[in-house]
Amino acid sequence: MAVTIRRATLDDLDDLLDLREAVAGEGVWIGAQVPLDRDGDRARHLHTIEQQEDGTSAVFLVAELEGVMVGSLSMHARIGIAGLGMQIADGHRGQGIGAALVAAGIEWAREAGVHKVELEHWPWNHRARALYERFGFVEEGYRRRQYRRKDGSLWDSVVMGLVLDEDAPGHEERAAEPPI
Ligand SMILES: CC(C)(COP(=O)(O)OP(=O)(O)OC[C@H]1O[C@@H](n2cnc3c(N)ncnc32)[C@H](O)[C@@H]1OP(=O)(O)O)[C@@H](O)C(=O)NCCC(=O)NCCS
Repeated sequence: MAVTIRRATLDDLDDLLDLREAVAGEGVWIGAQVPLDRDGDRARHLHTIEQQEDGTSAVFLVAELEGVMVGSLSMHARIGIAGLGMQIADGHRGQGIGAALVAAGIEWAREAGVHKVELEHWPWNHRARALYERFGFVEEGYRRRQYRRKDGSLWDSVVMGLVLDEDAPGHEERAAEPPI
């Protein structure tokens, strides 16, 4: 079955929220936790869908199998850095749908003039990690006890980045300040 990747529209809002709610309900993959603030998320999703119009601020992609939404990916760009978030519905993972979304997302980022894509994943999310590494993302940091969960616990997160502009000059080498 061929997957279709396309831009999200306002007609997708309910399906996007249902997908996010289902994945959040699994409790172990994404930052969002149930119960979702559906009104708040709807407003944020709507804003992202509208932002797509300018071509550089954001993109919201959906993956469909025979007309049914099975995945989504969003990116928000600020000062040339795009933050990536994504989810594939349970039962459709490990079939290359995430890869199709990430490929399309990176294509958008390049066209939008983004110089870097960044994301975070939970330390145990090996499937996400494998997917991101396949596209060249590298670990840039490990954030210990970073996020407070609704049950009060603090979860670590892993930061990954993908540099898209390797041509611009970097900063000059500077002498280290002598120790005081
Ligand atoms: C993470 C996620 C987006 C990946 O999408 P997907 O469609 O499942 O991914 P793909 O099938 O395109 O690729 C998965 C890769 O992980 C690998 N993989 C699968 N299970 C794995 C495991 N347990 N350990 C390591 N690698 C694994 C696959 O071999 C594949 O790599 P390859 O293409 O190099 O062979 C999807 O599984 C998902 O939505 N999970 C729940 C929500 C989530 O984690 N979102 C991301 C939060 S950072």
